[in-house]
Amino acid sequence: MSTRIKGFYKLSPEERLAEVAAFAELTEEDKKVIKGEEGFTLHNADNMVENVIGYMPVPLGVATNFKVDQKDVFIPMATEEPSVIAAASNAARLTYNTGGFTTSFAGSIMIGQVHVINLNSPYEALARIYEHKETILEKCNEQDPTLVSFGGGAKDLEVRIVETATEKVLVIHLFVDTKDAMGANAVNTMNEALAPFIEKITGGEVVLRILSNLAERRVVRARAVFEDPFGGNEKLLERFISAYELAVADPYRAATHNKGIMNGISAAVLATGNDTRAIEAGAHAYAVKNGKYTSLTHYELGENNSIIGTIELPLAIGLVGGATKSHAVARMGTKILKVESASELSGIIASLGLAQNFAGLRALASEGIQKGHMKLHIKNMAVQAGAESDQVDEIVKLAINEEKYRFDDIKRYLEIVNN
Ligand code: MEV
Repeated sequence: MSTRIKGFYKLSPEERLAEVAAFAELTEEDKKVIKGEEGFTLHNADNMVENVIGYMPVPLGVATNFKVDQKDVFIPMATEEPSVIAAASNAARLTYNTGGFTTSFAGSIMIGQVHVINLNSPYEALARIYEHKETILEKCNEQDPTLVSFGGGAKDLEVRIVETATEKVLVIHLFVDTKDAMGANAVNTMNEALAPFIEKITGGEVVLRILSNLAERRVVRARAVFEDPFGGNEKLLERFISAYELAVADPYRAATHNKGIMNGISAAVLATGNDTRAIEAGAHAYAVKNGKYTSLTHYELGENNSIIGTIELPLAIGLVGGATKSHAVARMGTKILKVESASELSGIIASLGLAQNFAGLRALASEGIQKGHMKLHIKNMAVQAGAESDQVDEIVKLAINEEKYRFDDIKRYLEIVNN
């Protein structure tokens, strides 16, 4: 089945859900969970975090037109920002006939950091840790036999000396294959269990025992060819490339450029119950790994006025553990995606980030983003202006006819509709 559905955006939410349900074989029960009619209660919320008094609903949409590694996918996106889902779907449409997105995954290795201070001879301590490498890895793996039984667990370590403001400290990096889990709990448990042994062999004092969100051994890459995005207009192609080049050269622009990428990535990360902050921290830290903050995507001109896009970033994403399984709607997110492994999910999410960024640059290089954005924002503004839900469509029509989308215009349309 294809997710290249013409006019999907024109359907009602119920009709769209019916399409997605047919694609992902969702049950009637699943549909009720997605619509928020059942499945996630105050009691569930109370079991997830502290001091619960309610919940904060965020719209859940699906991006269409994505083909990733030869498979069609609907990508669930939880976001409050208008035009993000439409933009990703539009960009993906341009890749559908050129083979879609192709991805690769470096592996599911997370880094745990154990930090040792008050060392008389840091270099000697470093050597001692390497001498005990096998015992250290064994001690880590004793903490998580289940992960080990799936082929995961602590695989290797590296010791660094870091010069801080007061002294030379040791930072041990434990490389843990967390397989289909994001892995924070597994890694942190190993780190904490290791601390007394590390203190014994180094004579120092362990302070931090925590994973690093700079998950550089969990890097995902995606590439795609965007077919003739400007109808052969060479000037616009040139403007697109210059917009990309500015993001590579200028951190002020790169921050916004990468924010555009994360508009897509964070929305899918949230929709699958993964940790948005871990992903954001990892992405931005990776963007500055060569000493200067830069773009996470690259673009080159291809044949027949096409643009070849690539993205590379770490994605510490899980399919098991945490909210991915305990949150009823997040479970639906992965069901819609029909993914079987965290690596597959990571490839899809990286592809979404690339499409999102391409869409932003395409708009910025041509008509700017405000026109499209404001059109999609009219509904929000109409509600803000006090419109009832049955008045919103009328207000949208008036705004599109007049091509005026400012808040004072929206208030004027509401008056017209009211009279
Ligand atoms: C808005 O949320 C995202 C953009 O600013 C990204 C960009 O500038 O590339 C449109």
